[in-house]
Amino acid sequence: MKIRLVKESWDSIECDALIMPVFENEDEGDSLLVDLDEKLGGLINELKSTEEWTSKAGQISVIYRPEKLKTARLILLGAGKKEDYDSHSIRSLMVKAVRKVKGYNLKRVAFYGRSQVESKRAARAAVEGIMLATYEADDYKTKDRSKSFVEEILFVSGEELDVAEVEASMERGKILANATNMARKLVNEPGNRVNPSRLAQAATEVAAKCGLEIEVWGEPELEDKGMGAILAVARGSDEPARFIILKHFGAPDCEAKPIVLVGKGVTFDSGGLSLKPAQSMEEMKADKAGACAVLAAMEAIARIGVKKNVVGLIPAVENLPSGRAQRPGDVIRAMNGTTIEVINTDAEGRLILADALSYGQQLGAEFMVDIATLTGAVVVALGKVRAGIFCNNEELFERVWRASDQSGEKLWRMPLDDEYRKEIESSIADIKNVGNRWGGAITAAKFLQEFVGDVPWCHIDIAGVDLFKGEGNVNGPTGFGVRTLVEIVSGTGQ
Ligand code: BES
Ligand code: ZN
Ligand code: ZN
Repeated sequence: MKIRLVKESWDSIECDALIMPVFENEDEGDSLLVDLDEKLGGLINELKSTEEWTSKAGQISVIYRPEKLKTARLILLGAGKKEDYDSHSIRSLMVKAVRKVKGYNLKRVAFYGRSQVESKRAARAAVEGIMLATYEADDYKTKDRSKSFVEEILFVSGEELDVAEVEASMERGKILANATNMARKLVNEPGNRVNPSRLAQAATEVAAKCGLEIEVWGEPELEDKGMGAILAVARGSDEPARFIILKHFGAPDCEAKPIVLVGKGVTFDSGGLSLKPAQSMEEMKADKAGACAVLAAMEAIARIGVKKNVVGLIPAVENLPSGRAQRPGDVIRAMNGTTIEVINTDAEGRLILADALSYGQQLGAEFMVDIATLTGAVVVALGKVRAGIFCNNEELFERVWRASDQSGEKLWRMPLDDEYRKEIESSIADIKNVGNRWGGAITAAKFLQEFVGDVPWCHIDIAGVDLFKGEGNVNGPTGFGVRTLVEIVSGTGQ
């Protein structure tokens, strides 16, 4: 995918489609619209008087071979109200618009950035939107696969721009969108194709391509480290556990404390002996979405060359029932010595994260962020719009919140009051892995908190937002979290 800022005027750009945002409440006499109307022989004013006027957010109108322009198609994109137009709306409008013209075989697409949004932000959001729109969860279709399209994205603006700055911003958008699409592809892989070893293999390939260091531990190393919680979950499957460690040394001092990212990598979650009902199991190939988000974020961090030391930790297991599986009532021992009474084997995510967070703490993390499809309860609380975040440190919370404002991935803060802790008190061990049914996302987070000590930590529960069953829009894995993790690590607010 080539991306480029063009200095020519919009009417002389040669491309397959020029996307021009138009607002619901355009100023009368806006010079762009007047110009456009003139070039189109009065069509704009004509359209305005009919229902074809496409200013409602996401509507498009395609004008073919406009005589006085060089583009093969002019796409008028309804951009909603002028005052609501920002980089987030550009990103999501582009996803909508580009998906509507999928199959048109557009190779070179230009986007006209209107002055309401700073050019470098607009350009980046447009690149992200266009590239995210190209993803299709059709790897396993043998017929009717979507044809690849969009080879080049051009950004056009009426203003004087710093070319290097805008192109760097577009480049960042490209890296983030590519990483997000990589995560989506991997989340979409079914359990019979991607098990813990295959996930480790995928991570090894990614690491080799982008220059990350990687270590993959098998069961002997897990035994050695005393990672009893990961091992206990893995027991039910014939597929052995893997612990994937990805390292990016970007700080001037390679000894500087790392930022640690942890992703839940359950390649399939049947619930184990606490077996899930069939319907709840259908989508559980996606229980590795946190792991994929961390892997993709690490790739983007390496490609951007973020000047921080960052470690990505992925505990990878398959949660199945068998004659060797852990039983409800078993007591296991996590790496940090905490004993856990396993009340429900379906609450396996928190068990594998317990060992990974303990290890992150041992690495002397500056701060840790974990991301996991952890609880159905967070879906009850927040639906499929926002992910829940839990945070033990205000400064880190501010950083995460700013990151989400950059990425456009919506979060909502949930509580961590001490009173919730009593729900996971066990009568026979240090803690148990589930509380009662109320506030299930919070008790899960309280469980994780037992393994972070004093390290600033944020937990992101993405159980509601990892998949999208869309109205012909985005369908399948969303790649939620990739872009937010990169922004958290970069910490620039840029
Ligand atoms: N992987 C699930 C959580 C989940 C649910 C993800 C729905 C995506 C959509 C997790 O391992 C799980 O099963 N959690 C249980 C915990 C319960 C047993 C305390 C749940 O939420 O039902
Ligand atoms: Zn589960
Ligand atoms: Zn799970």
